[in-house]
Amino acid sequence: TSRTAIIAGNWKMNLGPQQASSFAREILPSLGDIIRHNSSLMSILCPPSISLAAVHKVMEAMPIPGVELGAQNMYYEDKGAFTGEIAPGMLKELCTTVILGHSERRTYFGESDELVNKKTLAALAYGLRPIVCVGENTDQYESGETQSVIKSQIQQSLAGLSEEQAPQIVIAYEPIWAIGTGKAATARGAGEVIHFIRYTYASIYGESAAQAIRILYGGSVTSANIAEFMAHPDIDGGLIGGASIKNDFVEIVRTTA
Ligand code: G3H
Repeated sequence: TSRTAIIAGNWKMNLGPQQASSFAREILPSLGDIIRHNSSLMSILCPPSISLAAVHKVMEAMPIPGVELGAQNMYYEDKGAFTGEIAPGMLKELCTTVILGHSERRTYFGESDELVNKKTLAALAYGLRPIVCVGENTDQYESGETQSVIKSQIQQSLAGLSEEQAPQIVIAYEPIWAIGTGKAATARGAGEVIHFIRYTYASIYGESAAQAIRILYGGSVTSANIAEFMAHPDIDGGLIGGASIKNDFVEIVRTTA
Protein backbone atom coordinates (compact mmCIF):
# COMPACT_ATOMS: atom_id res chain seq x y z
CA THR A 1 0.00 0.00 0.00
CA SER A 2 0.99 3.65 -0.09
CA ARG A 3 0.52 3.98 3.65
CA THR A 4 3.71 4.54 5.64
CA ALA A 5 4.03 1.69 8.15
CA ILE A 6 4.39 2.47 11.85
CA ILE A 7 6.20 0.49 14.50
CA ALA A 8 5.34 2.17 17.80
CA GLY A 9 6.77 1.18 21.16
CA ASN A 10 4.52 1.61 24.18
CA TRP A 11 6.94 1.45 27.09
CA LYS A 12 4.00 1.51 29.54
CA MET A 13 5.07 2.21 33.15
CA ASN A 14 8.70 1.27 32.56
CA LEU A 15 11.95 3.28 32.35
CA GLY A 16 12.22 6.49 34.34
CA PRO A 17 14.17 9.45 32.92
CA GLN A 18 17.62 7.95 33.51
CA GLN A 19 16.90 4.45 32.21
CA ALA A 20 14.80 5.86 29.38
CA SER A 21 17.59 8.06 28.08
CA SER A 22 20.15 5.24 28.27
CA PHE A 23 17.80 2.93 26.40
CA ALA A 24 17.08 5.59 23.78
CA ARG A 25 20.82 6.21 23.34
CA GLU A 26 21.27 2.47 22.92
CA ILE A 27 18.63 1.86 20.24
CA LEU A 28 18.55 5.13 18.28
CA PRO A 29 21.71 4.58 16.22
CA SER A 30 20.44 1.19 15.00
CA LEU A 31 16.93 2.53 14.39
CA GLY A 32 18.55 5.33 12.43
CA ASP A 33 20.54 2.93 10.25
CA ILE A 34 17.36 1.05 9.40
CA ILE A 35 14.88 3.89 9.02
CA ARG A 36 16.92 6.75 7.60
CA HIS A 37 16.88 5.17 4.13
CA ASN A 38 13.39 3.75 4.31
CA SER A 39 10.62 6.21 3.65
CA SER A 40 7.93 3.54 3.87
CA LEU A 41 8.45 3.01 7.60
CA MET A 42 8.44 5.15 10.71
CA SER A 43 8.95 4.36 14.38
CA ILE A 44 7.47 6.10 17.40
CA LEU A 45 8.88 5.74 20.92
CA CYS A 46 6.33 6.25 23.71
CA PRO A 47 8.00 6.46 27.12
CA PRO A 48 6.17 7.32 30.36
CA SER A 49 5.34 11.04 30.49
CA ILE A 50 7.97 11.80 33.12
CA SER A 51 10.63 10.46 30.74
CA LEU A 52 9.48 12.33 27.64
CA ALA A 53 11.80 15.31 28.15
CA ALA A 54 14.81 13.07 28.74
CA VAL A 55 14.16 11.01 25.62
CA HIS A 56 13.38 14.16 23.64
CA LYS A 57 16.82 15.49 24.56
CA VAL A 58 18.50 12.30 23.35
CA MET A 59 16.54 12.43 20.10
CA GLU A 60 17.43 16.06 19.60
CA ALA A 61 21.12 15.18 19.82
CA MET A 62 20.60 12.28 17.36
CA PRO A 63 17.83 13.47 15.03
CA ILE A 64 16.52 10.76 12.74
CA PRO A 65 13.78 11.54 10.24
CA GLY A 66 11.22 8.80 10.72
CA VAL A 67 11.80 8.28 14.43
CA GLU A 68 9.37 10.26 16.57
CA LEU A 69 8.31 10.68 20.17
CA GLY A 70 4.87 9.89 21.54
CA ALA A 71 3.06 9.97 24.88
CA GLN A 72 0.86 7.24 26.35
CA ASN A 73 -2.03 9.39 27.51
CA MET A 74 -3.15 12.99 28.04
CA TYR A 75 -6.10 15.01 29.26
CA TYR A 76 -8.33 16.94 26.87
CA GLU A 77 -8.56 20.35 28.57
CA ASP A 78 -6.19 23.13 27.52
CA LYS A 79 -4.98 23.92 31.05
CA GLY A 80 -6.19 24.55 34.57
CA ALA A 81 -7.06 22.85 37.81
CA PHE A 82 -6.70 19.19 36.81
CA THR A 83 -4.14 17.90 39.30
CA GLY A 84 -1.86 15.22 37.90
CA GLU A 85 -2.97 15.61 34.30
CA ILE A 86 -1.04 16.69 31.21
CA ALA A 87 -2.46 19.02 28.56
CA PRO A 88 -2.23 18.53 24.78
CA GLY A 89 -0.22 21.73 24.33
CA MET A 90 2.35 20.50 26.84
CA LEU A 91 2.83 17.26 24.93
CA LYS A 92 3.01 19.14 21.67
CA GLU A 93 6.24 20.80 22.86
CA LEU A 94 7.93 17.39 22.85
CA CYS A 95 5.82 14.87 20.95
CA THR A 96 4.21 14.27 17.58
CA THR A 97 1.95 11.49 18.76
CA VAL A 98 -0.19 10.34 21.67
CA ILE A 99 -1.63 6.91 22.43
CA LEU A 100 -5.25 7.24 23.57
CA GLY A 101 -7.75 4.78 25.02
CA HIS A 102 -5.31 1.95 25.59
CA SER A 103 -7.18 -1.00 27.13
CA GLU A 104 -5.15 -0.57 30.32
CA ARG A 105 -6.49 3.00 30.59
CA ARG A 106 -10.00 1.81 29.82
CA THR A 107 -9.84 -1.11 32.29
CA TYR A 108 -7.80 0.25 35.23
CA PHE A 109 -8.64 3.93 34.99
CA GLY A 110 -12.23 3.77 33.82
CA GLU A 111 -11.77 5.57 30.51
CA SER A 112 -14.95 5.53 28.48
CA ASP A 113 -15.36 5.88 24.72
CA GLU A 114 -16.75 9.32 25.41
CA LEU A 115 -13.60 10.39 27.25
CA VAL A 116 -11.37 8.84 24.58
CA ASN A 117 -13.33 10.78 21.99
CA LYS A 118 -12.77 14.10 23.78
CA LYS A 119 -9.07 13.32 24.04
CA THR A 120 -8.89 12.36 20.36
CA LEU A 121 -10.51 15.60 19.25
CA ALA A 122 -8.22 17.61 21.54
CA ALA A 123 -5.11 15.84 20.24
CA LEU A 124 -6.09 16.59 16.64
CA ALA A 125 -6.86 20.21 17.48
CA TYR A 126 -3.30 20.53 18.79
CA GLY A 127 -1.71 18.82 15.82
CA LEU A 128 -0.87 15.65 17.71
CA ARG A 129 -1.31 12.32 15.92
CA PRO A 130 -3.62 10.14 18.01
CA ILE A 131 -3.13 6.38 18.12
CA VAL A 132 -6.57 5.33 19.30
CA CYS A 133 -6.73 1.82 20.75
CA VAL A 134 -9.65 -0.56 20.45
CA GLY A 135 -10.04 -4.24 21.22
CA GLU A 136 -12.29 -6.87 22.72
CA ASN A 137 -11.72 -8.79 25.95
CA THR A 138 -11.57 -12.56 26.40
CA ASP A 139 -15.28 -12.99 27.17
CA GLN A 140 -16.34 -10.87 24.23
CA TYR A 141 -13.94 -12.78 21.98
CA GLU A 142 -15.20 -16.15 23.14
CA SER A 143 -18.84 -15.20 22.76
CA GLY A 144 -18.32 -13.92 19.23
CA GLU A 145 -18.93 -10.25 20.05
CA THR A 146 -15.66 -8.94 18.62
CA GLN A 147 -17.19 -7.07 15.68
CA SER A 148 -20.00 -5.45 17.64
CA VAL A 149 -17.60 -4.33 20.40
CA ILE A 150 -15.13 -2.92 17.88
CA LYS A 151 -17.85 -1.22 15.86
CA SER A 152 -19.21 0.58 18.89
CA GLN A 153 -15.71 1.59 20.07
CA ILE A 154 -14.92 3.02 16.63
CA GLN A 155 -18.24 4.84 16.31
CA GLN A 156 -18.00 6.39 19.77
CA SER A 157 -14.26 6.99 20.29
CA LEU A 158 -13.82 8.44 16.83
CA ALA A 159 -16.99 10.50 16.54
CA GLY A 160 -17.05 14.03 15.25
CA LEU A 161 -13.83 14.26 13.24
CA SER A 162 -13.74 16.86 10.50
CA GLU A 163 -13.18 15.92 6.88
CA GLU A 164 -9.61 17.14 7.22
CA GLN A 165 -8.99 15.20 10.45
CA ALA A 166 -10.54 11.90 9.42
CA PRO A 167 -7.59 10.68 7.27
CA GLN A 168 -5.02 11.62 9.92
CA ILE A 169 -5.64 9.26 12.78
CA VAL A 170 -4.04 5.95 13.61
CA ILE A 171 -6.02 3.09 15.11
CA ALA A 172 -4.43 0.24 17.06
CA TYR A 173 -6.35 -3.01 17.26
CA GLU A 174 -5.32 -4.75 20.45
CA PRO A 175 -7.35 -7.78 21.51
CA ILE A 176 -7.05 -7.71 25.30
CA TRP A 177 -6.50 -11.46 25.45
CA ALA A 178 -3.33 -11.03 23.39
CA ILE A 179 -1.76 -8.22 25.42
CA GLY A 180 1.23 -9.31 27.48
CA THR A 181 0.17 -12.94 27.29
CA GLY A 182 2.59 -14.26 24.69
CA LYS A 183 -0.52 -15.43 22.82
CA ALA A 184 -0.63 -13.13 19.80
CA ALA A 185 -3.61 -13.20 17.48
CA THR A 186 -3.00 -14.91 14.16
CA ALA A 187 -2.20 -12.54 11.32
CA ARG A 188 -5.32 -13.81 9.61
CA GLY A 189 -7.53 -13.19 12.64
CA ALA A 190 -6.07 -9.74 13.31
CA GLY A 191 -6.22 -8.90 9.61
CA GLU A 192 -9.90 -9.80 9.48
CA VAL A 193 -10.75 -7.50 12.39
CA ILE A 194 -8.56 -4.73 10.97
CA HIS A 195 -10.31 -5.08 7.63
CA PHE A 196 -13.59 -4.73 9.50
CA ILE A 197 -12.27 -1.62 11.28
CA ARG A 198 -11.40 -0.03 7.94
CA TYR A 199 -14.83 -0.93 6.58
CA THR A 200 -16.54 0.54 9.65
CA TYR A 201 -14.44 3.68 9.39
CA ALA A 202 -15.34 3.99 5.70
CA SER A 203 -19.04 3.85 6.58
CA ILE A 204 -18.54 6.91 8.80
CA TYR A 205 -15.88 8.97 7.02
CA GLY A 206 -15.84 7.60 3.50
CA GLU A 207 -13.61 5.30 1.53
CA SER A 208 -10.71 7.67 0.93
CA ALA A 209 -10.28 8.55 4.63
CA ALA A 210 -10.50 4.84 5.45
CA GLN A 211 -7.80 4.02 2.89
CA ALA A 212 -5.56 6.76 4.31
CA ILE A 213 -5.57 5.83 8.00
CA ARG A 214 -2.98 3.51 9.45
CA ILE A 215 -4.32 0.57 11.47
CA LEU A 216 -1.83 -1.25 13.67
CA TYR A 217 -1.98 -4.60 15.43
CA GLY A 218 -0.89 -4.88 19.06
CA GLY A 219 -0.64 -7.85 21.41
CA SER A 220 2.45 -10.01 22.00
CA VAL A 221 4.24 -8.81 18.88
CA THR A 222 7.92 -9.80 18.68
CA SER A 223 10.55 -9.97 15.97
CA ALA A 224 9.50 -13.60 15.50
CA ASN A 225 5.92 -12.83 14.42
CA ILE A 226 5.93 -9.24 13.08
CA ALA A 227 6.57 -10.34 9.49
CA GLU A 228 3.35 -12.38 9.40
CA PHE A 229 1.31 -9.38 10.51
CA MET A 230 3.03 -7.04 8.06
CA ALA A 231 2.33 -9.45 5.22
CA HIS A 232 -1.41 -8.82 5.64
CA PRO A 233 -2.50 -6.01 3.30
CA ASP A 234 -4.76 -4.35 5.88
CA ILE A 235 -2.18 -4.26 8.72
CA ASP A 236 -0.03 -1.12 8.65
CA GLY A 237 2.28 -1.81 11.56
CA GLY A 238 2.47 -2.73 15.21
CA LEU A 239 1.99 -1.28 18.66
CA ILE A 240 4.60 -3.08 20.70
CA GLY A 241 4.47 -3.39 24.49
CA GLY A 242 6.82 -5.81 26.26
CA ALA A 243 9.27 -6.12 23.36
CA SER A 244 9.52 -2.32 22.97
CA ILE A 245 11.85 -1.95 25.96
CA LYS A 246 14.20 -4.65 24.76
CA ASN A 247 16.67 -4.83 21.93
CA ASP A 248 14.08 -6.96 20.15
CA PHE A 249 12.40 -3.65 19.25
CA VAL A 250 15.24 -2.91 16.85
CA GLU A 251 14.80 -6.40 15.36
CA ILE A 252 11.08 -5.77 14.92
CA VAL A 253 11.83 -2.54 13.06
CA ARG A 254 14.54 -4.26 11.00
CA THR A 255 12.20 -7.08 10.03
CA THR A 256 9.55 -4.58 8.97
CA ALA A 257 11.89 -2.40 6.88
O1 G3H B 1 0.38 -1.13 23.64
C1 G3H B 1 0.91 -2.26 23.53
C2 G3H B 1 0.16 -3.45 23.79
O2 G3H B 1 -0.65 -3.36 24.91
C3 G3H B 1 0.83 -4.74 23.56
O3 G3H B 1 1.57 -5.18 24.67
O4 G3H B 1 3.30 -6.31 23.29
O5 G3H B 1 3.29 -6.52 25.78
O6 G3H B 1 1.52 -7.65 24.40
P1 G3H B 1 2.47 -6.49 24.52
